[in-house]
Amino acid sequence: MLFLGENMKKNNKFFVVTYGCQMNKHDSEKIIGLLLSQGYKRAETMEGADIIIFNTCCVRGSAEDRLFGNINSLKLIKDKRQDLIIAVGGCVAQKEGSKLQRKMSHVDVVFGTHNIASLPTLIKEAQKGKIACEVLKSPRDEIKALPVERDNSVRAWVNISTGCNNFCSYCIVPYVRGRETSRSFEDIVAEVKMLASEGFLEVTLLGQNVNSYGRDLYGEIRFAELLRQLNEIDGIERIRFTSSHPRDFNGDIVLALAECEKVCEHVHLPLQAGSDNVLKTMRRGYTKEGYLDLVKKIYEAVPNCSITTDIIVGFPGETEEDFLDTLDVVKQARFDNAFTFAYSPREGTRAFEMENQISKKVKMDNFKRLLEVQNKNSLKNNLVLMEKELEVLVESPSKKKADVLTGRTRTNKVVNFPGPHSLINRLARVKIKEVRSWSLNGELKEVCERESICRL
Ligand code: 5AD
Ligand code: SF4
Repeated sequence: MLFLGENMKKNNKFFVVTYGCQMNKHDSEKIIGLLLSQGYKRAETMEGADIIIFNTCCVRGSAEDRLFGNINSLKLIKDKRQDLIIAVGGCVAQKEGSKLQRKMSHVDVVFGTHNIASLPTLIKEAQKGKIACEVLKSPRDEIKALPVERDNSVRAWVNISTGCNNFCSYCIVPYVRGRETSRSFEDIVAEVKMLASEGFLEVTLLGQNVNSYGRDLYGEIRFAELLRQLNEIDGIERIRFTSSHPRDFNGDIVLALAECEKVCEHVHLPLQAGSDNVLKTMRRGYTKEGYLDLVKKIYEAVPNCSITTDIIVGFPGETEEDFLDTLDVVKQARFDNAFTFAYSPREGTRAFEMENQISKKVKMDNFKRLLEVQNKNSLKNNLVLMEKELEVLVESPSKKKADVLTGRTRTNKVVNFPGPHSLINRLARVKIKEVRSWSLNGELKEVCERESICRL
């Protein structure tokens, strides 16, 4: 533990605002863990903080606009409270570097995606009145060893790789997260064993492309082998992973998914587009047929598997015929959920330069059409679950009613059911009594003891 100076004792309350994906949420757990380990304290609200930290996302322009709006709205407060420190980290910080402080002079600290470990030093510099900015291009080793303040006591995120080598033509991620870097087998297994010993039940393996895990480190993909090893760890009951890349989801991974009883029956398999033309200009490395073939193999191996996806509508040059191909895949793949995004041009990517950008109206119309088809899929898939008993990991009271609990099935579906708060963070067996497109309602059948988990 590092002790703070007198001045810092007074100004040591921090508040973290997180935007974006699970990777960012996990990074925020590291930011919080690191600051707590150095004697800083958490503020309950942004208003009560001496240090406000934005952990940012730049995947789409909308997230970035929202961020700039939020930071700008702090200008008036900063004018009145000169000792307030505003720090910006994450993908926008990595992309913009010190330009950010030139654009917004009230930002005191900028730290890139590889610079979390330097945050305490940067904060101290800023508190001395210096402009503090550190944006490294590649990861530092100590990032692995950062303390983590987990948001939850039974579900944990575990990085298995960072960065991405794919350079899909629309995507900014490889530019801000750097090249794909896998963590070693030993490191990952040790972390998951540690989590198991601390009482965690569920781990979610994180990477921009988890399926290619190991290629950079061992010269071959070893994701299936990783799943099999983690499956052997006592105490862990559920293993999830995200995101997958259809091109790297090989037969070994399909087999591991089927054979490892702790690996949940859920695959998030970003489609992005259904037409071969669009997939090619997106540089995705698979065809419509290839994608559908993979989906078929997954369903054959794991019949109750839930498949969810990401889809971009309005990629430059996308025609009505191209879009119909996307709708066709959505129907054939029977997705449980589709996260749909209107294409957002990102400066620095190949697609940014492309002509024939699609109008906002077409993007919005197609967005709605996609949603309608997907809603039907989701409801149809959920109807099959009526009267079935499913294993639910209980997460919290439901937002609407205090005596109703909410949790997730192994297939990652949300289930609400009446029950006591003592069930939170435990596994329960719930009979499904009512289904909607996006959630299931049920009644409690049995609480599962850890020694006799009710795998269904
Ligand atoms: N515009 C819209 N959506 C995008 N995504 C990534 N880049 C863009 C972009 N430029 C979506 C992809 C990805 C998800 C995380 O964000 O669907 O899978
Ligand atoms: Fe972006 Fe493609 Fe890498 Fe995913 S696989 S992070 S979409 S470049």
